[in-house]
Formats: sequence, structure tokens, C-alpha cells
Amino acid sequence: MSERPNSRGVSRRGLLTGGAAAVGGALVGAASATAVAASTTDPAPAPRTEPADYGQQREPFHGRRQAGVDTRPQAFASFLAFALKPGTDRAALRRMLRLLSDDAARLTQGRPALGDTEADLATTPARLTVTFGFGPGLYRAAGLASPLADLPRFPIDRLQARWSGGDLLLQVCADDPTTVAHAQRMLIKDARPFASVRWVQRGFRRGRGVEADGATHRNLMGQLDGTVNPKPGTPSYDPAVWSGDSTTLVLRRIRMEIETWDKLSRTDKELVTGRRLDTGAPLTGTAEHDEPDFTAVDASGLPVMPDFAHVTRAHVSDERLRILRRPYSYDGEPDAAGVPDSGLIFAAFQADITEQFIPIQQRLAEQDLMNEWTTPIGSAVFAIPPGCAEGGWVGEQVLS
Ligand code: HEM
Repeated sequence: MSERPNSRGVSRRGLLTGGAAAVGGALVGAASATAVAASTTDPAPAPRTEPADYGQQREPFHGRRQAGVDTRPQAFASFLAFALKPGTDRAALRRMLRLLSDDAARLTQGRPALGDTEADLATTPARLTVTFGFGPGLYRAAGLASPLADLPRFPIDRLQARWSGGDLLLQVCADDPTTVAHAQRMLIKDARPFASVRWVQRGFRRGRGVEADGATHRNLMGQLDGTVNPKPGTPSYDPAVWSGDSTTLVLRRIRMEIETWDKLSRTDKELVTGRRLDTGAPLTGTAEHDEPDFTAVDASGLPVMPDFAHVTRAHVSDERLRILRRPYSYDGEPDAAGVPDSGLIFAAFQADITEQFIPIQQRLAEQDLMNEWTTPIGSAVFAIPPGCAEGGWVGEQVLS
């Protein structure tokens, strides 16, 4: 055992034997001195913050549809893409999905996974959801035709293999990053005999409780992002997002060129977007949810909402053809010159990729002022199969 004193001059042996008492004595001495001081100055006790009950809130796992789509976005997400190992055939896929569904059913309800080595980490579900997505390779391995449309190559794409593709996706979301990390570890461990990790993308939104629940996400370009989105409970929501009890996910990793974006004036940033930075209001309105007027012109006859502004190009007037954007920010390590590695994990759910996502992305790829400051560097598509009943597993309707 080392006898080298630590920075406070107490040796490790000392701490474990008599020295600890000496240190303790010193602390007690200090405490009683404070008590004497307290009795004379009588300061107000330090305010205590009671924890909110967010840690114990749960999202259902079982149901006709998987959670994690309609679910109000949690503060943290980890998107895990797996590559199936050679030999993972339809029977092996069934075994794997049964196992992973069981893990997800337990963990989302605050119960440890089977064989959980850190069971205490499982008891704070914090609205954990685990959403399963099937890539084209999973259907191939099962001997089935893939229902997924391939995305065309867009001229703006600078895709990297390390952020693209994947046979199986697990979207793990919760209001607490420790909960996400634990669930991720358990799921990867149980997937290991069948699949290896292809990539992991970690993202975040505002911490729970710092803004009202349901407030629009503010991305790292400083914009309110998610204003015009299908709203659960409205008549156009289901046709836009769901096809029966299935949906699809397009996941794009989009780097933000923050350094050059920062060189723009506030007015220019707002013209590029078509909305104000502070309120998120369209340039023709005053409040976030005002309808933009794409026909309005200013005194010199120029459109108030520029023709090539992001929202002008992205706008879809038929609400049944809108996409559900559920994005997360990412913020990696800056490079050696201090340039940030920031962007958006752009997650879009829609009933039909070809009818909904592709036309919007095509319009944006052709002409969107924002392309100058955003670069897609990853891309993947997944089918989100129906959910399952208690005792069932996600994928049983596809693979049985
Ligand atoms: C880093 C990349 C991106 C950023 C920073 C971004 C940012 C924004 C912002 C600030 C808005 C306005 C507020 C709102 O309605 O949410 C918006 C709207 C929208 N964006 Fe994006 N976006 C990005 C990429 C994309 C992509 C890749 C697509 C689809 C292919 C897309 C589709 C849309 C749509 C459909 C709207 C709503 C348009 C409307 O009807 O008003 N965005 N985006």
C-alpha cells in the first residue's frame, strides 16, 4: 500500500486506520466552529430542490404500435444500428428479437433485464422507449422482400459509411442519459451473438424541466425546429405517420457548418430559414404558429418569405403528406482548430417514404438556401413494424 500522502496530506493507510479519526476530528472541529458561527449569524437554511418524479415516469412498451414515434420526444436518444452476423437467418432473427423485446419490455417499465448486472440502474425508466427498425438487410436475411424504398442520391449528400445503413435499428430514448446508457448496454449485450454494432449516434434536446413539456425543440443553429409537424390527435396525423400499425423512419445525420453560419447577420439567418430566430414566427407573422403567407411581398415587390428559404421549399400544404420530424442535436468533439462537430440527427417518420420524404428532400436538395450551412453525412432507412402484445415480440407479424 502506498504511503504517499494525497493532496491533502493524508496517506491511504492513515485514512483506513487512525488517521481517518484524526481527519474526522478535524472536520468535526470545523463543523462545530461553523455551528457556533451559525448560532450567532443565523443564516437561512440552503434551499433544497426536491427531485421531480420524471425518473419514475413510464411509457407503455406493449401495444398495437411501437412507442417512440407518437411519444413526446424525450431529452436524450441513442440510435443504435446493427449489422447482422453471417448465419443470422430467420430463425435466429426470431430468437434475437424475442430476447431484445423482453429486455425492452422490462427496462421501459423500470425492471432489470434478465441477467442485468447493474439492476439498480434499471429502476429509473424516465420515459424510456426502445423502438425497433428493420433495414433492407434484415428482410434479405429473413428471405423476405424489403418494403423499403431506397433513397436516391441527392447532390448535397456527402455520405460516410460510418453513419449510414444498418440491418437493425434500436432507437433508445429517455429523459435521463444514464438510463439510455444502461439500456443501450443491455441491448447490445443481448444482440451480440446475432449482430455487431455498425454505428451509434447519440443526441439530445433540452433537459426535461428546463422548459415546458412540449415546447418546440431549439437546434444548435438556434432555430425553433419542429413547429410545423403533424399533431397527434388531429385527423391528418394517422394518415401522415402510420400505415396500419407500421411506419418508416428516415435517419439523416446532418452536419451544421456553425462557423460560417455564425458569420451571417441575424436578419440573413432569418431570411435563410423563413422564420424568426427568437419566436419561430414566419417572416409574415408574429407568433410561432401563425400561418406563413407565401404570397406576401414587401414595399419593393420582393416576397417576404424568400422563394428559396428552407420553409418555403419544405412546405407541404396537404397535411396528410407531411412528415413527422423528431430530431435530436449532436455535438461531438471539436477538431484540432476548435471547429465544432455539431449537427442534427434528423429523424423523420412517415407512412410512405416515396410519397412523402423523397419529394421534400428533392426540393430541398435542388434549391434551399440552408444547404450552404448544412451537409448530410449519414443516411439510413428503416421500416418500423407494429408493436406487440404482452408475451409477444416486435417483428412477430413480419417473421412468423
Ligand atoms: C440540419 C438540417 C435542418 C435544419 C437545421 C432544419 C431546420 C428547420 C427549421 C428551423 C424549420 C422551421 C420550423 C419548423 O416548422 O420546424 C424547418 C421546417 C421544416 N423542415 Fe427542416 N431542417 C433541416 C433539415 C430538413 C430536412 C432534411 C427535411 C426533409 C427532407 C426538412 C423538412 C422540413 C419541413 C417539412 C419543415 C416544415 C415546413 C413547413 O411546412 O412550414 N428539414 N426546418
